[in-house]
Amino acid sequence: MRKQIAAANWKMNLTLQQGEQLLDDILSKHYQFTSHQQVVFAVPSPYLAAAQAKVKGVQHVFIAAQNCYNKKSGAYTGEVSVEMLTSLGIECVVLGHSERREYFAESNKFLADKVDIALEYRITPIFCCGEPLSIREAGTQNEYVAKQLEESLFHLDEASILKVVIAYEPIWAIGTGKTATSAQAQEIQAYLREVIASKYGQHVADSISILYGGSVKASNAKEIFSQPDVDGGLVGGASLIATEFEAIINALKQ
Ligand code: PGA
Repeated sequence: MRKQIAAANWKMNLTLQQGEQLLDDILSKHYQFTSHQQVVFAVPSPYLAAAQAKVKGVQHVFIAAQNCYNKKSGAYTGEVSVEMLTSLGIECVVLGHSERREYFAESNKFLADKVDIALEYRITPIFCCGEPLSIREAGTQNEYVAKQLEESLFHLDEASILKVVIAYEPIWAIGTGKTATSAQAQEIQAYLREVIASKYGQHVADSISILYGGSVKASNAKEIFSQPDVDGGLVGGASLIATEFEAIINALKQ
């Protein structure tokens, strides 16, 4: 079975103390994960080291950065390099979140460079894609999202793309309380898998985890994650509440 992942995206929320408390609460549940289940916490950069220390030795639980820069090092004030992440033992990075695309003008090409540098340093990119409401209303979401994959990922060879996790997040469902129906999530995620299959072959498409994101919460996670092409979720708001995120972890496919 593909990796089934519950990924928390704290975004720019919580103090260090609140974040540590949240991690403590969730980790105290001592989950018995199956071999293909994983939990990821994408925490703000200043908390990476502290969060990494908390999950040290905990199987199946990883800390992710929410972003990184596309250069190895140098005069880029305020940016975080992948080398810095590896030096902390961080193994994942969220790339191309719609908020980064919108507020920081991150293009598909720029993200392709970030994907490359993350993979060079053996960091798993959780690559986000998803359409705005206008595109959904025009009915062209499949083409729009396929283009995001093509322009940021399809230069990779087979071995490299197999290391990427994809998160499909319709922008109109992020932080709005408006979730895509499980059928809508399934439909587009199956389509994305077809697009990957036509480029890399079915065996590659069948191996890549595709998460759904956008107002996932305790009450809808089980239904969404039960879809055959949904391999877990990238969760914003509900990941800030221990009981909510615990229920979301429990909703992962066994
Ligand atoms: P949300 O955010 O769960 O608050 O909708 C998801 C995300 O942006 O990753």
